[in-house]
Amino acid sequence: MVNVGILGMGSYIAENIVTNVDLEKKMDTSDEWIKTRTGIEERRFAPEHHNTSHMSYIAAKEALEQANIKPEDIDLIIVATVTPDRPFPSVSAVIQHQLGAVNAAAMDVSAACAGFMYGIVTAKQFVQTGDYKYVLVVGAEKLSKLMNYEDRNTAVLFGDGAGAAVLGPVSEGKGILAFELGADGLGSEHITQEGQYLTMNGREVFKFAVRQMGESALSVIQKAGLTKEDVDFLVPHQANIRIMEASRQRLELPIEKMAKTVHKYGNTSSASIPMALVDELKNGKIKDGDIVVLVGFGAGLVWGSIAMRW
Ligand code: ACO
Repeated sequence: MVNVGILGMGSYIAENIVTNVDLEKKMDTSDEWIKTRTGIEERRFAPEHHNTSHMSYIAAKEALEQANIKPEDIDLIIVATVTPDRPFPSVSAVIQHQLGAVNAAAMDVSAACAGFMYGIVTAKQFVQTGDYKYVLVVGAEKLSKLMNYEDRNTAVLFGDGAGAAVLGPVSEGKGILAFELGADGLGSEHITQEGQYLTMNGREVFKFAVRQMGESALSVIQKAGLTKEDVDFLVPHQANIRIMEASRQRLELPIEKMAKTVHKYGNTSSASIPMALVDELKNGKIKDGDIVVLVGFGAGLVWGSIAMRW
């Protein structure tokens, strides 16, 4: 069996910053409420002409360059998104052409904020068996188009963005060590899209996330044959600082060992974990050989965790 790891990463970060104070002018909310309840200070909204495929393309191009892989060497492209440009064609097919990845198959996966986890785990299966060598996985969302400014429970939480990773063979002992994916469709009405807007039962999602993130992270650590003490860095889905803190405390990790981008990007759903990874790699927080745990949850309800050696 081939060991599978991340060979290169990239992200798309929109230029347009929307602060909590900007939102105060649009709706009945306050900077203070948003900061204390969520940890979010600002988010990015992509311009009209930057749709999900464009953001995916930018992130993917950077990931390919960083991995030093030619587009024609990619065997499969997986884009995780709940905000595709259109229901079909898939975003992955659109960027397959834009990237010139002429030999790649293409499909999108829908697992909301756990989408990148589902994408990575799917990619891993193809590379591990040796059937494919390089798989590009993108998490990309344009959530700004689903925001209802009449609904202060949701409109303050989300942002746009994309993150991408090239997966391929890595040396013995490195790469993905264990994963866990799960779903509980009983909670399918807790976050959904009604008409053009995202709707959410925040309290139910909060309770689920606090419980599930910690449990799933612990379970994947155990599956990898590791203990909490072995973990060097935690990258939780960036939805709410209080949820992230709960998972960090379950792992008894010091604060500097957890990725934090929620304050500047808000919740970017399937893009949140890869965007956070890119930022923390640039900050030097993740080093070669580190044990890194990724954990996501989202609409479905679904979750996914991965333990890897960087
Ligand atoms: N500004 C000011 N007040 C607000 C706002 C706002 N933006 N939003 C809600 N409030 C008010 C409410 O109306 C409520 O007032 P009331 O008591 O008079 O009714 C009060 O604040 C408290 O509301 P709660 O729901 O108790 O607030 P809570 O502390 O639970 O925080 C939040 C709400 C932030 C939504 C939280 O529940 C949460 O983060 N849930 C998880 C959401 C999440 O992560 N979703 C993404 C999942 S990923 C995916 O798949 C897309």
